[in-house]
Amino acid sequence: MTTKSRFRIMLAALLGLMPLMASQAIAADGVALYRGKCAMCHGPAGAGRPGTFPPLAGRVGQIAGNPDGKAYLAAVLLNGLHGPITVDGQSYKGFMPSFRALSDEDIAAVLAYVSTLGNSAAPAGISAQDVASVRAAPMDAAAVQAKRAALQTAHVIP
Ligand code: HEC
Repeated sequence: MTTKSRFRIMLAALLGLMPLMASQAIAADGVALYRGKCAMCHGPAGAGRPGTFPPLAGRVGQIAGNPDGKAYLAAVLLNGLHGPITVDGQSYKGFMPSFRALSDEDIAAVLAYVSTLGNSAAPAGISAQDVASVRAAPMDAAAVQAKRAALQTAHVIP
């Protein structure tokens, strides 16, 4: 085999691998963001801490299955959330900081990852465009609270 043909084979192999590498990079992003920015409060598997940090596992996937629920999740990440809230009969009066500094792509990726915690379903289809439209309409703490209360009454938020 000549050097030139060996090079051609290597190049072809590398090009063949590229889509795989790209999709893994996207999947890894949400995981890395969650570990770096969320796990310290919500726990590595999203179990939370009763009374302090609400659980996300098994809940976010369900919330994201509803279009208004999806917009709510993006609103929490963009605007933060200040209690009181109730989750599984447990009340929380905490403070979730805003992650407005993250890009729309990063917020979509981390929410898609969180939607897989505690269930075996495919990640929720949250796009950067979904996040961008929520970002375009900033909400104050009272507005995020009111949206949450309405969605809990409608059983979108468990
Ligand atoms: C400093 C601690 C802290 C960090 C970091 C944090 N959260 Fe939170 N999060 C909270 C608290 C506290 C609440 C509940 C706020 C309240 O009591 O009103 C909350 C609420 C939420 C909710 C709403 C749950 C519901 O039932 O309405 C979601 C979704 C969420 N967090 C996702 C995330 C994601 C994703 C990240 C990482 C990008 C993150 N959080 C990082 C503390 C944190």
